Parts: sequence; structure tokens; C-alpha cells
Amino acid sequence: MTRGKFITLEGVDGAGKSSHVDWLAGRLRARGITLVVTREPGGTPLGEKLRDILLADSMHLETETLLMFAARREHLDKLIVPALERGDWVLSDRFSDASFAYQGGGRGLDFARIRVLEAWVQQDLQPDLTLFFDLSVELARQRLSNTSMPPDRFEKEGAPFFERVRKAYQTRAIESGGRIRPIDSSRSMDEIRQELELIIATI
Ligand code: TMP
Repeated sequence: MTRGKFITLEGVDGAGKSSHVDWLAGRLRARGITLVVTREPGGTPLGEKLRDILLADSMHLETETLLMFAARREHLDKLIVPALERGDWVLSDRFSDASFAYQGGGRGLDFARIRVLEAWVQQDLQPDLTLFFDLSVELARQRLSNTSMPPDRFEKEGAPFFERVRKAYQTRAIESGGRIRPIDSSRSMDEIRQELELIIATI
């Protein structure tokens, strides 16, 4: 049995990644791939409860980081690893690069601490491919302000926070040895999808 592929989507809030999830899932399924679509924080009943808390309640930065990884531990155990072992593919809207970008870059938690949790929770499991939707913070904030949903605890952060998050994603992309593929999200939906099509054809 061939192990499935693990693909994640990342980017600052408002960069547009979520609008491509269903389309990407459709393109992969059209290739005959059995796919599980999920998200973080969340993806399991307990993870979704932790998501509600994480997006609403203020808490110590380390509590926030530990809860992100607690939800991830559950997600890996109940959903991601079993799916990959069955040979299914997994498409997750965010994974641990978000902890490095938001808790590390955005909030300033020492990256070494995050690496400890990453090693503990994931061992050596990493996504096969990460699509990083990259957009200027100014445009991302404009897009966010056009949605009707009230902002969550992260979306309420100011521009300097999101600049740090973006920078952390960009740095990780450079250091990732090709795993993290930056996607210029300032382009039209069609142009972005053409590029996504080319990228997913290679994995
Ligand atoms: P979403 O809006 O993309 O669903 O993600 C929810 C928020 O959670 C988003 O603002 C980023 C944040 N987040 C972290 O801060 N750290 C993490 O590890 C994850 C997975 C998400």
C-alpha cells in the first residue's frame, strides 16, 4: 500500500488560501485520488472545541502554543496518520508552519520551543507539499475587511503582527528545501489556479 500525500495550505489571514481548498480537492479527486479535507486548529471533535477556545479566549502565549499542538496531536492520531496509512491523501488548511509563523513570528515565541513541540507531536512527519499563499499585509487586510464574518482573536491583530507572520512564512519557505511553495496571491483567481494546477501535477 502506497502511503498517501500530505498537502497543507498556509498564509496570513486574508491571503485567500481558503477559497482554493474546494477547487484543489476537486482537481485531485478528478485524478482518482481519495482525499480527506481538513483544517487546523480543528479537524477532530476535540480539535474543533479547542479551535473555538483558541479563536475566542485570550490566554498566555505558551498556553496558546500548547493548545495548538494538543489539537494537532489529536488530529494526527485520529485523522491524518490513519488516512495517509490507508493510502488516502490529506489536504489540510494550515498545519505546524502556522505555529512557527503566528506563535513564533507573530507573537515572538522562541522558535526552538516550537521545534521541541513539533518533534514531540509529529516526530519526523512533515507535509509533502505546502502551498504558501503570499500577499501583502495591506491587501490581505483589505480582503478581510470585505468579509461579513466578525473577526476572530487573530484577525483582530494589527498590521505589524501580520508583517511578522508573513516574514516568518517567507523565511521558512526559503529554508524549506522546496517543500513550501510561495504562491503570489495578488494575481487573479485564474492565474493562481493555473499555477496550482502545474504544482500539483508534479506530486
Ligand atoms: P483560519 O482562519 O485559517 O481557519 O485559522 C485560524 C487562525 O489560527 C489563524 O488566524 C491562524 C491561527 N493559527 C495559529 O496561530 N497557529 C497555528 O498553529 C494554527 C494551525 C493556526
